[in-house]
Amino acid sequence: MAFTPRVFSGIQPSGDLHLGNYLGAIRRFVPLQDTHDCIYCVVDMHAITVWQDPDDLRRATREVAAAFIAAGVDPKRSIIFNQSQIVQHAELAWVFNCIARMGWMSRMTQFKDKAGKNSENVSLGLFAYPSLMAADILLYKATHVPVGDDQKQHLELTRDIAAKFNNDYAASIAKEGFEPDFFPITEPLIAGPATRIMSLRDGTKKMSKSDPSDQSRISLLDDADTIAKKIKRATTDPEPLPETVEGLKGRAEADNLVGIYAALSDKTKADVIAEYGGKGWGTFKPALAELAVAVLAPIASEMRRLIDDTTAIDAVLRDGAERGSVIAEATMKDVRRIVGFIR
Ligand code: TRP
Repeated sequence: MAFTPRVFSGIQPSGDLHLGNYLGAIRRFVPLQDTHDCIYCVVDMHAITVWQDPDDLRRATREVAAAFIAAGVDPKRSIIFNQSQIVQHAELAWVFNCIARMGWMSRMTQFKDKAGKNSENVSLGLFAYPSLMAADILLYKATHVPVGDDQKQHLELTRDIAAKFNNDYAASIAKEGFEPDFFPITEPLIAGPATRIMSLRDGTKKMSKSDPSDQSRISLLDDADTIAKKIKRATTDPEPLPETVEGLKGRAEADNLVGIYAALSDKTKADVIAEYGGKGWGTFKPALAELAVAVLAPIASEMRRLIDDTTAIDAVLRDGAERGSVIAEATMKDVRRIVGFIR
């Protein structure tokens, strides 16, 4: 069966959005609107797998939605909503909890990293997180999911869940008159290494909202002055920029800053090295700061304008939820029949 080319992706409303979220995810959502039906979700139900203050959750939810729009996602063409408004996400996630195996979940590296030694005391929701993510994607029968490298394993699990559902319920799927591949085997659209943005303090760690140092990341709502200061203070080695891209090997911080410059200017690292190879940080950092401000300032000001009008942003989320729930309910109607739930 041919599935409509459809993209689904989600961002958690927990903590501040930063440059890594923008270059690695949100910015990539925009061109996909020309080739696919796109559904972009603020995954508030995923966020509460770890404690979130309710007011912070509301603020962050609106902030992520505002970032989508400010970056160029068109809320008329695409569907933008927050996950909890479409209750079918929770409903399908339960069915998938009964499809996925404990062993599959236990192998998830993100769970192991997040739970650490504390695995007896994290929420059950954190363990089941990938099953809700599979529900997000498969509720809309999404064919493609743009995600970062770190989500690859969760995408594979989504494919395993789709295949096991199609297989376990094969007889019922046929009896109810559906195609045997009821759920698609979703393809990841993994961002290239150039969009993997690392911490400004440590070039071997991903830029992250959970890093205790605010200096390690550029927040999308940082003002020009703050952006420039953070770049100026970014950790580097004492050597000037190398003359070739190969010279970036083993120089994690230099590689990261060149990568950020390349991503922000839509160039390759080789282009950046052709321009700045052999120059010192005193030349490169101010140029990078200027570029970052030029790209991010208009996004930040549009985000602020959107966030200020909570009524308008909430209306966008409600409109998205109304349109999304038509697709979600159509899938769930079929799933209930396949599983044997009476209605
Ligand atoms: N787990 C993703 C992350 O932390 C967020 C997410 C939830 C997601 N549901 C999704 C991403 C569905 C893509 C598709 O980045």
